[in-house]
Amino acid sequence: MPVLIRSTYSKFLPLLRLRRAAEILLRSIGRPGAELSILLVDDTEMMHLNRQWLKRSYSTNVISFSQQADDFHPPDNDLLGDVVISIDTARRESANAGTELEQRLEELLVHGLVHLLGEDHELGPVEAERMKRKEQALLSALYKELKMADLCINIDHVATVRQARGTAEPDPVTAAGIVEMAGADGIVVHLREDRRHIQDRDVRLLRQIIKTRLTLEMAATEEMTGIASDIKPDIVTLVPEGREELTTEGGLDVVTLEKPLTETVTRLHDANIPVSLFVDPERDQIVAAKQTGADCIEIHTGLYADAPSSNIQDSEFEKIVVMARAAMDLDLRVHAGHGLNYRNTARLAAVSEIQEFSIGHAVIGRAVLVGLERAVREMLSLVQKGYLE
Ligand code: PXP
Repeated sequence: MPVLIRSTYSKFLPLLRLRRAAEILLRSIGRPGAELSILLVDDTEMMHLNRQWLKRSYSTNVISFSQQADDFHPPDNDLLGDVVISIDTARRESANAGTELEQRLEELLVHGLVHLLGEDHELGPVEAERMKRKEQALLSALYKELKMADLCINIDHVATVRQARGTAEPDPVTAAGIVEMAGADGIVVHLREDRRHIQDRDVRLLRQIIKTRLTLEMAATEEMTGIASDIKPDIVTLVPEGREELTTEGGLDVVTLEKPLTETVTRLHDANIPVSLFVDPERDQIVAAKQTGADCIEIHTGLYADAPSSNIQDSEFEKIVVMARAAMDLDLRVHAGHGLNYRNTARLAAVSEIQEFSIGHAVIGRAVLVGLERAVREMLSLVQKGYLE
């Protein structure tokens, strides 16, 4: 694991965002596999470390310790070292500067990292100037790339509850308004061939009222392509659809279906609708997705989400990370979804290649207990701000 974040500070912190920032910085300095440890402490702990290791009897905002290869870290490891940041000081500094804590943490991380790269502003004005220039270059590289993923909420299961009684409530159109007010970036609905939850009327009304983005999930059929071309969602996600399935069970077999999928993608493009293909995290499928002319893939995260053991989950996670990068290298936008919940989303939210999450069941399920607005906000706090308790 190249970036290791530890915290002796117990408050709610933007750890995912910090990890994402650290990974982008390691790529920017050309050492994506280097090991970097980040330790977050309070002022008391910082004073203690500063005294013990640097013989200075005060607290400070950041200190770094460069690491050399030794018996524990053989030379084939690319070791950078440790950056220690005081959260108390970072909080005070961000409050004084009128900026967010997340931003101050990133500035301090960059400062510590540039120290690890051998720069030292305390050596004199020339060195200080050089260090400052390096920090500015790294920060601008960071902010070009650092954006947490968007969160789009799938509201199909609001309609599932409505259809259970065949009445008019709860109305997914009303739910969409609440989801948007809570800060989500978009609304997703799956218009199934059997209309088991979302109805044509829902999609048409949603198109009129949504102020963010409307994603229409659908099978690549003649009927659905006609509906999409007429309603014009902001993006279509093509998914496989089985009549008997409870929910979408796997990604599209784009390798086998490349020709018909290419025709559907072309027809949707003719109607000015961008297209995403829902695929398993497999290289062949992603390469084939690119061949169809699709703009985007949505990585099926079901095997990761439902993994029966942590080892299997780790290996599914790795697959998603590698395939998300492969898709980006092919110039495809990368979305991810299926089976994600309040426990397994955070880890994926730190993966900087994933630009959007599509999450439904977990959020609507929690909404029954805590309310829709709160359920969306809690997921947003994980995905967008990168805050973890
Ligand atoms: N993405 C796709 C393509 C889906 O088919 C679904 C389920 O409708 C989701 C995401 C959302 O999955 P979940 O409801 O498990 O969050």
